[in-house]
Amino acid sequence: MARIIAGISSSHVPAIGAAIDNKQTEEPYWKRVFSGFEKSKRWMAETKPDVVIAIYNDHASAFSVELIPTFALGCAAEFPPADEGWGPRPVPVVKGHPALASHIATSAILDGFDLTIVNKMEVDHGLTVPLNLMFGSPKEWPCPVIPLAVNVVQYPPPTGQRCFDLGKAIRRAVDSFPEDLKVVIFGTGGMSHQISGPRAGLINSKFDKAFLDGMTKNPKALARMPHIEYMREAGAEGIELVMWLVMRGALDDKVKELYRFYTVPASNTAVGHIILQNGVKSAPRKPAGKSVVKKSAAKKKARKAA
Ligand SMILES: [Fe+2]
Repeated sequence: MARIIAGISSSHVPAIGAAIDNKQTEEPYWKRVFSGFEKSKRWMAETKPDVVIAIYNDHASAFSVELIPTFALGCAAEFPPADEGWGPRPVPVVKGHPALASHIATSAILDGFDLTIVNKMEVDHGLTVPLNLMFGSPKEWPCPVIPLAVNVVQYPPPTGQRCFDLGKAIRRAVDSFPEDLKVVIFGTGGMSHQISGPRAGLINSKFDKAFLDGMTKNPKALARMPHIEYMREAGAEGIELVMWLVMRGALDDKVKELYRFYTVPASNTAVGHIILQNGVKSAPRKPAGKSVVKKSAAKKKARKAA
């Protein structure tokens, strides 16, 4: 049986990709950002997932304004890097997992989520930057990746609750896939940022840190947050954070936070990252308190006397 073993969230700032491609990762400005992912890369190398499901958004690379699917699931065998205006990024072609992707499509659609099935798609920085952050810059990505693109570019994006519920549908799909696979799910984008208008450059660290806390401890409350609150508190592009809720919905209610990293800025964006371990069993019940021990001792005494 396939199982989701962990969820990872990460910003997908395009300038991070440019820093990698232009070999600037050791420059002090960028070292601050990349050093926060060193532990994560080690964790990923040790964890060796069989498949990654990556929730991200397309930035008018694969889909123009002529066609804007709310949820688009990549079912193809491979996804080449998109040309985002200066040629495709020099990163490996993303290999998909058509069998699991088709299973997710079938399961989720029959479950009430009308996903768009995509059999040909190029992927932009929204997907490739988080892969770099978690896997480094290998010649080939070490495992298949299933892309799931969410519309957060054209109003109206899906609600946080809808994203959270989609995560639950993905979880049911993965749980019912017969092959024994270790799956890690990514939620990408965010954190607070706004790239245009009078509030361009907005960063709200207080909001971001509370959002990170909520991801671990109270995701159901985050799922209820309306769009306007993202816009007001996290800036216009902060709405990307709804994609993190797809990832969180696919995990158990109770998770273990393995790692967190937050830094500002990268380009004009707050960078947030978290690793949540799934399948954490509830702690065993504490041994009975003193009064109970006393009671059972008293019972024993009484039995002896009888
Ligand atoms: Fe983005």
